[in-house]
Amino acid sequence: MTAPLVKVLQKMQELFQNIFTALESMVLFPALFRKLSRKQRKAFQGACWHQRSLDDFTDELDRLFSAPLRVRNMLEMSDKIQDQFKTCLQASPYCMLPSYTHALPSGHETGTYLALDVGGSTFRVALIELQGRDREMKILRVSSSVIDNNIKLLEGTLFFDWMAEKIEEMLGKVDATYGRAETPLSMGLSWSFPIDQTSISSGLVIHMGKGFLCSNGTVGQELGDLIIRSCRKRQLNVTVDAIVNDSSAALLSRAYVEPKTRMSLILGTGTNVALHFPVHGIGLTKFGTRPVGWFDHAKHVIVNSEMSMFGGGVLPMTRWDETLNRTHLRPDYQPLEYMITGRYLGEIVRLILVEAVETASLFGGHLPHSLREPYSLDTSIVAFVEADTSASLAPSAALLQKEHTFSATPSLADLQFLRRVCQLVSKRAAGYLATAIHSMWCLRNEVELGSDDSVTATSDAASIKQTQQVTVVESEEVSTKKSLSIACDGSVINKYPGFRDCCQAYLNQLSRETLALEGTCLEATTDGPLIDLKPAPESAVLGAAVAVAIAVAEKSI
Ligand code: BGC
Repeated sequence: MTAPLVKVLQKMQELFQNIFTALESMVLFPALFRKLSRKQRKAFQGACWHQRSLDDFTDELDRLFSAPLRVRNMLEMSDKIQDQFKTCLQASPYCMLPSYTHALPSGHETGTYLALDVGGSTFRVALIELQGRDREMKILRVSSSVIDNNIKLLEGTLFFDWMAEKIEEMLGKVDATYGRAETPLSMGLSWSFPIDQTSISSGLVIHMGKGFLCSNGTVGQELGDLIIRSCRKRQLNVTVDAIVNDSSAALLSRAYVEPKTRMSLILGTGTNVALHFPVHGIGLTKFGTRPVGWFDHAKHVIVNSEMSMFGGGVLPMTRWDETLNRTHLRPDYQPLEYMITGRYLGEIVRLILVEAVETASLFGGHLPHSLREPYSLDTSIVAFVEADTSASLAPSAALLQKEHTFSATPSLADLQFLRRVCQLVSKRAAGYLATAIHSMWCLRNEVELGSDDSVTATSDAASIKQTQQVTVVESEEVSTKKSLSIACDGSVINKYPGFRDCCQAYLNQLSRETLALEGTCLEATTDGPLIDLKPAPESAVLGAAVAVAIAVAEKSI
């Protein structure tokens, strides 16, 4: 026998000896075992039961993913996230960013506008016709280009050069001279990344998530200029008259047709919320330098919350989330996003599968080569498997085989396990999202209802009493003031099977519980949800067009 082999056998003997000793002490001294901390016990169990059953694994997953979703836990987390919002509302340069847009659209804006939409996985150039609130907004023409990984890896101005090429292609299809006339062609931009707005039509680049490297070397530069410079290289004469974050675009597009809209939500590749928020609730330094008189007109302003960046240290993470975060290009940058969006749901499921293959003989203990690569399990597959209600799960098996070659067809037990994992991961995502939205809703209520009082409040006793009486205002009035419709866009919130309903159900529970805790009569709130998720499809291009219409109108005053 060779020396290395002897060594290996000795090591194995040692290992088994240790396991038996551990088991023996567990049986003989159960009290001692009970004294071990959870972590020590887990490590102990890990050493003893390297292999486990799929059922056992499922039980652990159930526990880990469902425990944070008890209403009481969610309310506590919502409170803590609200504290994070409040801190950032006063000082952060990266989130809770006030735009320059203080007025929502009147709904009378009309005209044909060119809209650019830089999303997480597509770049779109569209020609939009606005015909006023009572008539449908029309997408006259649109060209879509996939932003694949190679494009995402373009650094600095190279990305803008690529954008200019796509803009030129689209304009050329409209007319050979379009965008080449003496008067510059006006464009509106919806940008699905953070931006430090410096006017309605300009903003400085902030670090970009979603795997994009375009902010390398361009952070702090003016976004509109970067686009215009790249367009000039192609002799395109264009101006960027409006720049909005995609969440603000969603808010504008829906407010154009539904004047009561005050908040928007994006949940696709990334996530975000924009809200129409009282100016007085925001730290003065956050506004930078504004034109003289800006504050005279602005009682509210559209705030890009960059909600993806919140929840760190509050929302419980599993070991798979930790791995994802640790190996991410920007660890800790967007804690909420890493647990709920289309870019990551597939990866969380994949990381769980990898462990299940290794420790619970999932797929006969063999993981297809293609699934070893990070981010190789697309969230669309996760969505498909979750939507597959057939007893045999044959459609899921067929899709998996098509996308990833398995050495043997996955068994029914394997597929059932996979489906359960998909359900748990997406349900937790809906729960965490609802928690963050609820938190934003509470913050808005606090500042908004407070602001009503502060308008009338003076230091005299009568008005102080009046302020205190806010708590006893008719329940109906309170719930009416607090009810809100949220414009939703993005592939996960609008297309992932059952996701919006699940998130809505959590929101209903949380908001009703909050009102009950405040002592507001629940009967008054039974007419539809207090926080109502309303789909706002195509919001990026439509919202960019609305933004440019508002900007052009303001310019001409
Ligand atoms: C970005 C936001 C964007 C959101 C939705 C996040 O990753 O930071 O700016 O609004 O995704 O697209």
